[in-house]
Amino acid sequence: MVDQDSAENGEEKGDVVIRRAREEDIPYVMEVNVRSLPENYWYGFYKYILERWPEAFLVAEVKGRIVGYAMSRVETVADPVLRGLQSELEGGMEAIKARLSRLLQPLHIKTADVGRVGHLVSIAVLEEYRGRGIGSRLLGETIRVMKEVYNVESIYLEVRVSNLVAMRLYEKYGFVKVRRIRGYYMDGEDAYVMVLRLKPLPVDA
Ligand SMILES: CC(C)(COP(=O)(O)OP(=O)(O)OC[C@H]1O[C@@H](n2cnc3c(N)ncnc32)[C@H](O)[C@@H]1OP(=O)(O)O)[C@@H](O)C(=O)NCCC(=O)NCCS
Repeated sequence: MVDQDSAENGEEKGDVVIRRAREEDIPYVMEVNVRSLPENYWYGFYKYILERWPEAFLVAEVKGRIVGYAMSRVETVADPVLRGLQSELEGGMEAIKARLSRLLQPLHIKTADVGRVGHLVSIAVLEEYRGRGIGSRLLGETIRVMKEVYNVESIYLEVRVSNLVAMRLYEKYGFVKVRRIRGYYMDGEDAYVMVLRLKPLPVDA
């Protein structure tokens, strides 16, 4: 676990440093994004996320070069699927319950109408740096920050149904497929919504 001070300064392992993004990193983050994904965003979008949820925007740096990033935001939602309280896909809820029962007992409270959830908006690592655990460390640190700093009840994300590498990474951290969105991407591909429930399930869920 990384304490506040070392998270601020970056968590080092070998020559890869995972640290909070700074505004001057944004052009390099945009370059990693454009080289890695068809979903690209304008500068102001990155800047807004960084200003609003500064701890949830992480970069991976190797010898001073930005080689990866993970960018998340916090949302208040009523959708029980995004909160990890319901699944639209077979086996989704059973998988969430099986994972939680090992960690957390159900809470004897009634489900609130809305909940605070984390949304992993985008994560990427430059191709030549993949397969070295950088994506895993970015995701692991994102989960820690979402839990400890932003106190969310779940984290969700969208992933292309063909992106097996990313799905395997998310599943490794306990994310479960809970919804399929037809034609979610610009080219018409479907997305899976995957959720990691971080808090106990209310007994009525
Ligand atoms: C998904 C992504 C961020 C993973 O980054 P990474 O630094 O390679 O991740 P890791 O090295 O931690 O590997 C994570 C898992 O990916 C899988 N993986 C990594 N490299 C792989 C490869 N060359 N071939 C197949 N699977 C691979 C493995 O399952 C690995 O977990 P394991 O080593 O514990 O088995 C990276 O592949 C990427 O940037 N892809 C393009 C952008 C993208 O698809 N983003 C996600 C959008 S939803």
